[in-house]
Amino acid sequence: MMVPAGLELAPMRWWHLPEVAVLDGEAFGAERWAPEAFWSELAQRPLRHYVVVLDAGQVVGDAGASLPDTPGGEAFVQTVAVAASHRRRGVASVMVASLLAAAVGAGAGSVGLEVRADDPGAHLLYRRAGFRGVGRRRGYYQPSGADALVMVTDDPAGGLVLLGGPPVAAGVPS
Ligand SMILES: CC(C)(COP(=O)(O)OP(=O)(O)OC[C@H]1O[C@@H](n2cnc3c(N)ncnc32)[C@H](O)[C@@H]1OP(=O)(O)O)[C@@H](O)C(=O)NCCC(=O)NCCS
Repeated sequence: MMVPAGLELAPMRWWHLPEVAVLDGEAFGAERWAPEAFWSELAQRPLRHYVVVLDAGQVVGDAGASLPDTPGGEAFVQTVAVAASHRRRGVASVMVASLLAAAVGAGAGSVGLEVRADDPGAHLLYRRAGFRGVGRRRGYYQPSGADALVMVTDDPAGGLVLLGGPPVAAGVPS
């Protein structure tokens, strides 16, 4: 699928982390990650795949997944966040396509995630990528006490097709 016009999809690097922390706070409020969590995630590459979307060099989206270390294992979407100013333009979708492409590349047999049960817009985002709801974790998010919907796809390659294939910017796969 095409990266939205004027935006850039790039691997997340340490120098993005101050802006990622601001975006994470905007998207998740009190349930944001501690900034060190992103450092820890990046330190676990290549068993992690983290990306940002940039607008004129500024971080407007971030997403990441853990990848299995053996073929057939499960990948897991750890986080997806888009700046309020840039929503409904396909930014999350292109990042999810990148996560699915990485999962397929790692030979993942399935991809899981947890999402707030009270966020139907996010559920739709993931359904459009082939995920289905498989369970609920009560009070998973703290301090809000919101439930999590557990979603999974057993066909990450099919989900990638649903999204229009791996991200493409100016004709170059990324
Ligand atoms: C959920 C979130 C990541 C979506 O980002 P986005 O870049 O706006 O998503 P996209 O533009 O790729 O949306 C793809 C599709 O998902 C659905 N969708 C996304 N947000 C939606 C919303 N608020 N209401 C209804 N449908 C929505 C739509 O079907 C949309 O397609 P459309 O715009 O053609 O109708 C963003 O709103 C966000 O960061 N929210 C706060 C953090 C969060 O909830 N993260 C997800 C859990 S980890």
